[in-house]
Amino acid sequence: MINSDSKIKQMNFLKKREKLKMDRPYIFCHMATALDGKISGPYHGAAGPEAGQLFYHLAFEKDGFYQNQGWLSGRTTTDDNFTFYKKPILDESAPKVPAGDFVIPTEFSKYYISIDPHGRLAWQSNELIYQDTHAQVLEVLTDQASNAYKAFLRKKQIPYIIAGDQKLDAKLALKKLKNLFHLETVMLGGGAVLNWSFIQQGLCDEVSLVVTPAADGTPTTPALFEAREGLSDTTPVTFTLKGVQTKSNVVWLRYLVNHKQDN
Ligand SMILES: NC(=O)c1ccc[n+]([C@@H]2O[C@H](COP(=O)([O-])OP(=O)(O)OC[C@H]3O[C@@H](n4cnc5c(N)ncnc54)[C@H](OP(=O)(O)O)[C@@H]3O)[C@@H](O)[C@H]2O)c1
Repeated sequence: MINSDSKIKQMNFLKKREKLKMDRPYIFCHMATALDGKISGPYHGAAGPEAGQLFYHLAFEKDGFYQNQGWLSGRTTTDDNFTFYKKPILDESAPKVPAGDFVIPTEFSKYYISIDPHGRLAWQSNELIYQDTHAQVLEVLTDQASNAYKAFLRKKQIPYIIAGDQKLDAKLALKKLKNLFHLETVMLGGGAVLNWSFIQQGLCDEVSLVVTPAADGTPTTPALFEAREGLSDTTPVTFTLKGVQTKSNVVWLRYLVNHKQDN
């Protein structure tokens, strides 16, 4: 049964307290998984719609448990679901864009924060539609992104921030999300590589898993967390269980991430 209880109230209190002292948004990793921890594959939908509905309710509906102003996605997740590995049409002779971040007002109440260090994604629009959520696309680039790609984003009215030179500086990216876009709570929404790189850097406070009672045994699909050379390694991280609730055959698990408090 999904309900509010004293543990939830206690956690909200802790979240509020942590937000006050952090120079970044509160980050919760919210994912839907198979029983074996996989995050994609034929198991999807096999056990019915309940897990997907609960996943969406918790972080996207007005009365959901999490009240976040945006969600972060890795470049592969965006290409798989929204931009479909198309190549952006770039004007290589575009005039040089002003240096630094491109911050513009938005009409949307949520941001889709796209981790795209090299500037690869072929956005068609500055608006992303996920079920009934309409979100402003916001790109997180590094200095590896070209002038032509930044000009492409400006033309589409897609704001961007630069975080890092050769590699993504995730800590700086989150600081900018808080200070330039006033985001207080942000969902870390996968995939596996992005999740683990943030967790290992101490940039994720909480993990929320909606576990569907299905699996398919596919050996090649990603699980919840995946280390990638150059971005993360296999140093263990531990978690503290904060809540277990059920709805029908679906389990919702919440853990706090045990990490140093200086991030
Ligand atoms: N079940 C769920 O709730 C759920 C949610 C989201 C996604 N998914 C699934 O997860 C799968 C994709 O996951 P994935 O692990 O393969 O990919 P991913 O994490 O979505 O994206 C990985 C890419 O994002 C960029 N990136 C991520 N972390 C970075 C970091 N710390 N520094 C720099 N760049 C970083 C890199 O882009 P470049 O290669 O451009 O450098 C990297 O190759 C898809 O099948 C998707 O459908 C499932």
